[in-house]
Amino acid sequence: ASTLGAQAAQSGRYFGTAVAAGKLGDGTYTTILDREFNSVTPENEMKWDTIERSRGSFNFGPADQIVNRATARGQRVRGHTLVWHSQLPSWVSSITDANTLRSVMNNHITTVMNHYKGKVFAWDVVNEAFADGGSGQHRPSVFQNLLGDGFIEEAFRSARAADAGAKLCYNDYNIEDWNAAKTQGVYRMVRDFKARGVPIDCVGFQAHFGTGGPPAGFQTTLSNFAALGVDVQITELDIAQAPTTAYTNSVRACMNVARCTGITVWGIRDSDSWRAGENPLLFDRNGAKKPAYNAALTAM
Ligand code: XIL
Repeated sequence: ASTLGAQAAQSGRYFGTAVAAGKLGDGTYTTILDREFNSVTPENEMKWDTIERSRGSFNFGPADQIVNRATARGQRVRGHTLVWHSQLPSWVSSITDANTLRSVMNNHITTVMNHYKGKVFAWDVVNEAFADGGSGQHRPSVFQNLLGDGFIEEAFRSARAADAGAKLCYNDYNIEDWNAAKTQGVYRMVRDFKARGVPIDCVGFQAHFGTGGPPAGFQTTLSNFAALGVDVQITELDIAQAPTTAYTNSVRACMNVARCTGITVWGIRDSDSWRAGENPLLFDRNGAKKPAYNAALTAM
């Protein structure tokens, strides 16, 4: 096939991109979006500081723009993200009472998932809960500090109760290297969840890479997680300077794992990237295909 989405679909996978609502009026942007991609992830519009800026008052407008547009075109939507320590409004991070936080977290999950029921196929229920470095433990956050380790499990249980039809994912970065302590910490959590029947369906690997691309063990990591009985996905791929080999290796790692169900790049053109200075994407500032585009396409 001649586009990323159509080529991925040949093996039953999707190829997606992060989308910003503020760019939907840019014709160069939407032309590439609709030609190449069959899945979208709202880049910021579903984050807590946009969607529930003050308690109980939900602002679905920006995310609805993306979701309705995608749905009308047959593109899937990944929901990103329900519980995350970042882009979290201060009214949440300043809560000091565990019971208050518990009901706020569960209400947020339930209200947002209900709104998008039937439109979002997979949710990043919890994002980036593990610490960097060698601890293999959760990072501090208001959720961790007040609710303890069980906050992740509680979030997934609320999510399943809210929308039994959506795939529920844990999403993180720097968990691509099988030997990293952070990877092992997430692996132990998923193994424990599966053993105890805590509802989890997928693990998202953000894949924000440096010029070297994925660590050598990336495919091993994907297949070891998949062997626990979850789908795996590359959820936010971007690679400094977009070397062709690094893109080939990233895409091949997914293609070689049966339960790797799709790849999302974190933006369309380099100028759309949160790492714009590193030119990490598949299209240049003018919307032209870069060598990395052909590498990704031919790796599928
Ligand atoms: C980034 C967005 O791309 C930026 O526009 C925003 O300013 C900050 O967040 N991990 C994630 C994404 O899970 O939500 C982040 O997206 C990139 C890192």
